[in-house]
Amino acid sequence: MLKNSNIESVLWDDWHVVAELARLTRFRRFVTTLLGVSIMLELDPTGNVSARRGDETIASVQIKYGFVWMCLGSPTRDIVEFAECRESDRLVATAGSVRVAVSGLRAVENFLDLSHLAFVHAGYLGEEPHTEIKQYTVRPLAEGGIIATGCQVYQPKASPIATEGYDVDYIYAVLRPYIVVLYKANPVELTRKDMIALFVQPISEESCVAHAFTCYLKHGIDPAAVRSFQQFIFGQDRPILENQLPKRLPLGVGTEVQVRADGSSAAYRRWLSDAGIRFGAIPVT
Ligand SMILES: [Fe+2]
Repeated sequence: MLKNSNIESVLWDDWHVVAELARLTRFRRFVTTLLGVSIMLELDPTGNVSARRGDETIASVQIKYGFVWMCLGSPTRDIVEFAECRESDRLVATAGSVRVAVSGLRAVENFLDLSHLAFVHAGYLGEEPHTEIKQYTVRPLAEGGIIATGCQVYQPKASPIATEGYDVDYIYAVLRPYIVVLYKANPVELTRKDMIALFVQPISEESCVAHAFTCYLKHGIDPAAVRSFQQFIFGQDRPILENQLPKRLPLGVGTEVQVRADGSSAAYRRWLSDAGIRFGAIPVT
C-alpha cells in the first residue's frame, strides 16, 4: 500500500487497469503511470505480475479479464464483476489500449454520449438523418454510479458481424468514475446483448489510456475482427477527445453541460461531483 499524497480515496483505494496482460507477456517489464504514480510492472517466468514504485512493492495487483489491475492504496471494493463473462457462448476479449491526451473522465463521458454517434461514427454506429435521440431514463445505481436504460439508436453497422442497419437497444452503466460499460442488442439474437466496457487508466489529470474490453455473443465472431472494429471506432473518437478544452472535465452545470451534454452526461457529472471526484475534473466552485 502506498501512502496517499492527496488523491481522493474513492480513486486511490479502488482497482484500475494498468496494462493489457498480452502486452506485459510480450515485453516482460515496462513502466506505466497510474494517478500520477510511475510504476514498474514485471512478469516473472512463473506468470506472476509484480509492481513497484521505486523500491516499494505494490501488493494489490491482480489479473482479470485479460488485464493487469492495481490498487495503489487499500482496496475497499472488489474489481468490477460482469456475470456475462461466465456465459459459455460468449467471446471474452481485450480489444486494445489507446493513449489519449485528455482526462479519462472525458473519455468516459464521450463513451456515454449518444448524440455523437451519427456524426463521429457515421456509417457505423449512426447515420444522418437518424440524429434525434429518443427519450431514455437515467437513474443512480445503489452501489454507486449511474445507469441509462431505454436508449435506442439506428445503427448501419452496430457490430463486427452486423450486415444491415437496425434500431439498436442500448443500456449504459457507469460503474466507477473511470469504468463504463454498454450493453447493446446483438444483431443475431436481438433479445440478448453484447457487452463492451471501457476501463480507463488515469495517467495524469489530463491524459489516460482507454482499455477496451468486449464480451460478444460468439455467432462466428473472431477476436481479430472485434479488436480491429473497436480500434477503428475508437480511432474516430480520439482526435475529437484530444481537441476538447479544457482537458479536465468540468463538473459544474455551466454552459458546456447545457449545450453539449445529454442526460447521461449531466447525470455522470453530477454523480462525480457528489462522489467528491477531483482527479481529472474541474470541481464545482
Ligand atoms: Fe464514439
